[in-house]
Amino acid sequence: MSRWSSYNVMNPGGQGTSYGDVQMRNKAFCDNSKDQILKIVENLVTKPHLENEPFTIADYGAADGSISMELMTDIISTVRSKCGKNKEIHVMYEDLPQNDFNSLFKRIHGIIPNPRSYLLDHENVYVTSTGTNFYKQCFPSNSVDLALSFTATHWLSKPVYVYDHVYAYFTQNKDEYNAMAKQAADDWVLFLKNRTKELKPGGWGVFAAAGSKDATPEEPACVAFHDQLIAMGTSWKDLFDQGIITKAELQRGTIAACSRSPRELEEPIRDSVELKTMGLKLHEIRLDAIPCSFVSEWRQKLEQGIDDREGVARGITKYFKTPTYNTFYTALSSDRSEEQKLQICELFYKGMEERLLSKHPEDLTPYYYYASTYVQKE
Ligand SMILES: C[S@@+](CC[C@H](N)C(=O)[O-])C[C@H]1O[C@@H](n2cnc3c(N)ncnc32)[C@H](O)[C@@H]1O
Repeated sequence: MSRWSSYNVMNPGGQGTSYGDVQMRNKAFCDNSKDQILKIVENLVTKPHLENEPFTIADYGAADGSISMELMTDIISTVRSKCGKNKEIHVMYEDLPQNDFNSLFKRIHGIIPNPRSYLLDHENVYVTSTGTNFYKQCFPSNSVDLALSFTATHWLSKPVYVYDHVYAYFTQNKDEYNAMAKQAADDWVLFLKNRTKELKPGGWGVFAAAGSKDATPEEPACVAFHDQLIAMGTSWKDLFDQGIITKAELQRGTIAACSRSPRELEEPIRDSVELKTMGLKLHEIRLDAIPCSFVSEWRQKLEQGIDDREGVARGITKYFKTPTYNTFYTALSSDRSEEQKLQICELFYKGMEERLLSKHPEDLTPYYYYASTYVQKE
């Protein structure tokens, strides 16, 4: 029996190890859409809104709520400045049932004090949460004004296993690649169908996640976290080549995620008659290159005469351990002892760190592709 029962569960929480304690760097991804989201909120609340209806925001794949806390505070301030202090605001958080909701509640009520919770400064704000998978309907129909999701929708509803890599995007097997691409397209439509049901007519959805850039005649394709995923793939394969993991374990070590390109995000929406019938309108898909903070920090240190390459490799590996640990832990046979599984996982991440260290930081992709989709329900 695994420690956590799902391949894509992030961090189980605990003193100093809640999601926000270890993944605060992800706030840069959330901040990337902030200005545009606040403009959407301004427009939404200036439209005639029923006086006795709350303004409802939903955050899907919210983890412990730490990353979107500042954005939520700004959204609440925007609603307040337009509608006054009596306007009720409902913030709904969604994540998998195994998520660390304990830290979410502690953060929202200020027991974990940083970042500061909006609930401490604003009246008439109500918070609820659900542990329902976002590939299902999570909230009542026509109940959401603004649906948000950051760095979560690249997680698929199930893994598409491949033998030759930890990330199906890199497989050389055409059939396996096509199976993954189909799963990613079907999941995206399923996610959007459920959000469309939940949105109020006129409501907006902003769904932003790890993205990729299709190949052009000038440049090869590039996926978010390209170098990190390559280093991981090599380290997992090394364990197999050294006889440490079996062929079945090699295959089960496939991350159930797909960083879609704007084309891969747009085509399934355009092709779905059902989404159109339900009233979903695509406004924009934006692909941004967000600076890799590990490389930027290395450059800053270098200017002060410190060439901390070890720090870059260690930092990136630690950052990646949180979202991927459970994939590799659960890939290991249930016949293995707990101690053996922990040792293999440690070897795996050590191998990843060494692979990253063998690359000069200047040769690491200095940005991450991040794709943001803006939709509205008519
Ligand atoms: C990388 S974290 C992102 C957390 C936060 N939104 C942020 O911006 O950093 C991805 C989150 O998505 C959640 N997640 C993955 N698959 C999910 C699913 N099918 N349904 C709901 N949540 C899911 C994970 O549990 C995790 O909390």
